[in-house]
Amino acid sequence: MTHSGKLRLGVNIDHVATLRNARGSAWPDPLRAALLAEAAGADGITAHLREDRRHIRDGDMAALKDGIGIPLNFECGATDEMQAICLATRPHAVCLVPERREERTTEGGLDVAGDTNRLAAFVAPLRDAGARVSMFISHDARQIEASARIGAAVVELHTGLYSDLHAEGRLEAAEAELEALRKGAALAHSLGLEVHAGHGLTFDNVAPVAAIPQVVELNIGHFLIGEAVFMGLGPAILEMRRLMDAARGL
Ligand code: PXP
Repeated sequence: MTHSGKLRLGVNIDHVATLRNARGSAWPDPLRAALLAEAAGADGITAHLREDRRHIRDGDMAALKDGIGIPLNFECGATDEMQAICLATRPHAVCLVPERREERTTEGGLDVAGDTNRLAAFVAPLRDAGARVSMFISHDARQIEASARIGAAVVELHTGLYSDLHAEGRLEAAEAELEALRKGAALAHSLGLEVHAGHGLTFDNVAPVAAIPQVVELNIGHFLIGEAVFMGLGPAILEMRRLMDAARGL
């Protein structure tokens, strides 16, 4: 069975915190942005607690968990520190991402295949605590199969390369990357994994990803927060929602 119905939209509010931290002040407030996103129809809020706390901080995660009425997707690296915070926060979902301090954003997928035993042990207590655990990976079959083996419920396919190729106007290469994402989504679904996608998605490039039938959720942040400067966060989310629905034929 494939899902061709309405996609969920997870709004990543990390960069509201980036803007706040640039001044060391209390605003803009990520919780206020999350509540606005919820009011505009977001299906979930995603936030990434990085090891260096460059945007979201521990107190933001706690405030989001307590303050929002939609699911919280807690993104983090697979470290003991983050596991303990996840277990204390009890978010709806935990998305494990690779993290290198020097990177500007999450640049590649998690190497699940190369770290199977450790990640299986890492995921188990999160799953036992009721979290939907997701692996942020490339569309590589080895990574998808390893994610299924270690007991993840979800894979989030990294759309960063597709987004970059699209932005550079390399449309043939972008189409090849899309085809690989489609194959990856089909494989993941056939293994019983729920399929999400995200990174670098914009009004211009979202439609073909939203049209992949096995994908049930997109997580989108940087573009929406940037667009909020021009059109407001609510209208930006509504426009993204409209484009996602149109891609599904809704
Ligand atoms: N999904 C995951 C797992 C991510 O790490 C990020 C970036 O934090 C996103 C989605 C959102 O990417 P963007 O901010 O480029 O929309």
